Amino acid sequence: MSTTITICQTCKRADWNVETNNKTDGEMLANLIEKAAKDFPEINLRRHSCLMGCDFACNVTIQSKNKLNYVLGNFTPNIENAVGILEYAKLHAASEKGQVPYREWPKVIKGHFRARLPTLDNN
Ligand code: FES
Repeated sequence: MSTTITICQTCKRADWNVETNNKTDGEMLANLIEKAAKDFPEINLRRHSCLMGCDFACNVTIQSKNKLNYVLGNFTPNIENAVGILEYAKLHAASEKGQVPYREWPKVIKGHFRARLPTLDNN
C-alpha cells in the first residue's frame, strides 16, 4: 500500500527573510522532496497550505489508509532531510500498521515527530 507525504508549502522558519528568499522554506522543501521522489515510486506527494504547525516549520505528514499517521516538523529545507523523509515514508509504506522500528528510522527524522494519529475505525 502506498504512503502519502503532505508537505506544507507555506511554512517559513524563524529565520526566513522576505528580502532574501523568493520562496518559502516549505516550497523549497517540497521542491527537494519532489525532485528526490523519482527513486520512491511507492510514495505519493501533495502540497498543502498550512498544516497548523507553523511554529515548528517545516512540517510534513506521513499518511496511509488503515495505518498510523504522523506529523513531523522542524525541518530545514535541504536534500538530506528531503531524502530522509522519503526513506521514512518508504518504510511506513512497507509496514503493516504504520509502525516502523526506531532502529530503522533515518537519522535525520529522529526528534522531528510532532504527533501520531491512530487509524479511524471503519465506522
Ligand atoms: S505555514 Fe506550515 S504549518 Fe502553518
